[in-house]
Amino acid sequence: METLVNNISIEKSSSSKIGSVDFDNLPFGSIYTDHMLVCEYVDGDWERPKIKPYANLSLDPASKIFHYGQSIFEGMKAYKDEDGQAWLFRPEDNHARLNISASRMAMPELPKEYFMEGLTALLQLEKDWIPTTEGSSLYIRPFMFASGVGFHASPADRYTFLICLAPSGPYFGGKVKVLIEEKFARAANGGVGYAKAGGNYAAQFYPTKLAVEKGYQQVIWTDDNTHEFIEEAGAMNIFVRINDTLLTAPTNDRILDGITRKSILELAKAEGIQTEVRKVKVSEVVDAAQNGSLKELFGAGTAAVVSPIAGFGYQGKDYELPELENSFAKRLKKRITDIQYNKVEDPFGWRFKV
Ligand code: PLP
Ligand code: COI
Repeated sequence: METLVNNISIEKSSSSKIGSVDFDNLPFGSIYTDHMLVCEYVDGDWERPKIKPYANLSLDPASKIFHYGQSIFEGMKAYKDEDGQAWLFRPEDNHARLNISASRMAMPELPKEYFMEGLTALLQLEKDWIPTTEGSSLYIRPFMFASGVGFHASPADRYTFLICLAPSGPYFGGKVKVLIEEKFARAANGGVGYAKAGGNYAAQFYPTKLAVEKGYQQVIWTDDNTHEFIEEAGAMNIFVRINDTLLTAPTNDRILDGITRKSILELAKAEGIQTEVRKVKVSEVVDAAQNGSLKELFGAGTAAVVSPIAGFGYQGKDYELPELENSFAKRLKKRITDIQYNKVEDPFGWRFKV
């Protein structure tokens, strides 16, 4: 049966899979809820979003997504507080970034009201899927791809925007070790590194596979030109603590402007932690590891939250980072998750009630 909520048509699934899900042992991003949001761009305009039962898509083999990779996505989470109320974290920033990515990939921008109203209606329908177990949340994957057809190497005339939801546990299982990259590059000046384009991730898979074979979970990318400066990791921005100063690279056209990164910077400042947004040399990090002034390395991102890094490899040598009593990562993770899960006041106005 089809109903209308906020002008969004909802076709409900005749049954639910929720009873078969073990909410105490959730993997990351591999169990999907009963419904998804679909919105089609046809004849130069977006149709109104629709909510449908989660199902396979039917696509023409000539769809340009398959040939030219016009595909972008976002990553967000919904959190449930102790009273059962659902919350999002800075969702308008994800919408803004989706459109930055769309514009770089010659794709149409999605109207803000379709994103916000569609997402809210979908989450209200799927509220029971938001986990309440510590460290878990409902991962939200909005994405857009070229569904228009043709082998001509030019932008498609038709696009599909979807939102799928996945109740998820932590992104990393266990300790995170990273490899600082010396040869491959994730992005280049003038390229698409700042866009959340699917191809940016595909381009990382081979070098990351090599790193995983050596026992690391992620690659820390360095600048494509000199490989002298730390940029970001495969799925998160990177923070470096030298003595009591917290450093992170400035964003540029090779680095994703992470919403967690900018929130962590604001929280650190509010906590009285000295922060510096500046280029960070790999040699500075290696020297600091050798002389004991490198206190912490951690990643920040929606999926990764705040992930302490236990060690890094560089030029064939491994450097370990022992756990700290007074860890900035631990403190900042608590600050941000307390706000996300509505455990404390939100002086920044970041929380969004679903
Ligand atoms: N950098 C990359 C390459 C990412 O995939 C992500 C994840 O979205 C981030 C950084 C962190 O961004 P955000 O904090 O907005 O999730
Ligand atoms: C996220 O943190 O939401 C991301 O999009 C990273 C992804 C590679 C899981």
